[in-house]
Amino acid sequence: SGTQYENILVSRPEPNVVLVTLNRPKALNALNSALFKELNKALAEADQDDSVGAMVLTGSEKAFAAGADIKEMKDKTYSDVYKNKFLENWSEIANLRKPVIAAVSGFALGGGCELALMCDIILASPTAKFGQPEINLGVIPGGGGSQRLAHTIGKSKTMELVLTGRNINAEEAERWGIVSRVVGEGEGQVVKEALSVAKLIASKSQIAVQAGKEVVNAAYELSLEEGLRFERRIFHGLFATNDQKEGMAAFAEKRKPNFTHS
Ligand code: HXC
Repeated sequence: SGTQYENILVSRPEPNVVLVTLNRPKALNALNSALFKELNKALAEADQDDSVGAMVLTGSEKAFAAGADIKEMKDKTYSDVYKNKFLENWSEIANLRKPVIAAVSGFALGGGCELALMCDIILASPTAKFGQPEINLGVIPGGGGSQRLAHTIGKSKTMELVLTGRNINAEEAERWGIVSRVVGEGEGQVVKEALSVAKLIASKSQIAVQAGKEVVNAAYELSLEEGLRFERRIFHGLFATNDQKEGMAAFAEKRKPNFTHS
């Protein structure tokens, strides 16, 4: 769409992939409310656009995002943040149906780390630094970091990050399972790699991709027994789609599938 934004850049580097770039370079992409409103709008539009199969979210070489905007936050009172549901709209990203891939270079701190954790796949540049430094500001993570990290890396490592505010580098983040991969050196490399993952996902059946995202996310909410049943039911349901017929017919006929997302 032709929407003009002030805090983000939106482009379509592949026919079926939308790239959103956080763009407050002077503030290391600190996440203020104006930026978040724009980010939610751009991603919701991409999510609803039938021609889009996946989204990539990135920042700059120096910073994915250095956290919530401390200057915007510092004078807020309890009644402000409670009445206005401060941060509630952050979780809209976690409710998108299509996959969002975070391409992280440089600082992903506080709310920036939490934003990356809301994405479905995180790729990191060797320069990436993750951390929850809120403890240094007299607060704690408020955008889901304590919960999503605990699910991902367990109690001891989460406690260390949240209670000391120490940053970890890309290699440590990969070892701990926060990121799926650290890509090669070089400017723009992580975005390039994220775009190629997004392009690959966008070449699949959108229905199957959305179902895959839904069932993996269910693993964080359900018991194993409920989760297995949920997966099997969703799997059964895919036999009602044209894309299942096409995908399996194409295999049997030794040709490439032509998914119609129906
Ligand atoms: C507002 C920020 C900012 C932030 C950086 N800036 N981070 N402004 N909010 N989170 C601004 C700086 O004030 C400075 O503006 C400019 O960006 C460049 O930053 P420098 O500090 O000069 O850069 P550098 O020395 O390279 O240090 C980088 C840094 C440091 C280590 C990342 O900026 C830093 O510690 N930032 C704060 C990190 C943090 O605490 N994040 C958690 C925020 S709390 P000027 O105008 O001086 O040039 C949070 C809560 C989440 O996220 C809860 C809910 C989501």
